Amino acid sequence: MSRSGKFGVFDQSSATNWAALIALLAAFLTVGGTIRSVRAADSQRTTMDGVFTDAQAARGKAVYSQNCASCHMDDLSGSGQALPLAGDAFMETWDGQTVADLNDLVHNTMPQDKPGSLSANDTVDVISYLLQFNKFPAGKDELKPDPAGLKNILISKKAPADAAPPPTPAPSPTPSK
Ligand code: HEC
Repeated sequence: MSRSGKFGVFDQSSATNWAALIALLAAFLTVGGTIRSVRAADSQRTTMDGVFTDAQAARGKAVYSQNCASCHMDDLSGSGQALPLAGDAFMETWDGQTVADLNDLVHNTMPQDKPGSLSANDTVDVISYLLQFNKFPAGKDELKPDPAGLKNILISKKAPADAAPPPTPAPSPTPSK
């Protein structure tokens, strides 16, 4: 933080908009490319970016065994009404939604026989396990139960650059008659 410390704003994780603004300003004022990484961190992330840790997924597995496996089975294949939580079925439902959507559904409606019984931390842990099981990569930072942060992570198998929406839609070409 020594480098960006003079801006102060970087010390507050909630000040992402400010960070973007300052980063932009700093890009004009600074010679050198290191500041680019600050800007990149501000764009939308996807589940390909390593949004949970292996240790967190391991905790989530324990939560899953206790609270979910009775209906969704140990291998996440589902049973009866309890839908599969892995494989094509999972991606068909969740591709393009955000981790916040998945987190809210689990937190508010699961376990179906005891909805609302999971703590916010247990919920993000179990989500981490679901993501790991669905072959998303682990990373350095844990998934945090922060609604804005979760909303910023798209569930997608695409590389971050491909999944990010274009900043401005290209003007549609005028058909020539
Ligand atoms: C008592 C049985 C039961 C338990 C325990 C249970 N679920 Fe479910 N789950 C269901 C049923 C039934 C559905 C389908 C609900 C529906 O169609 O509205 C479901 C649906 C889901 C879905 C949505 C799947 C989709 O593709 O739409 C997710 C995600 C989920 N459960 C996760 C969990 C997690 C995580 C746990 C443990 C914390 C858990 N469930 C525990 C029965 C259960």
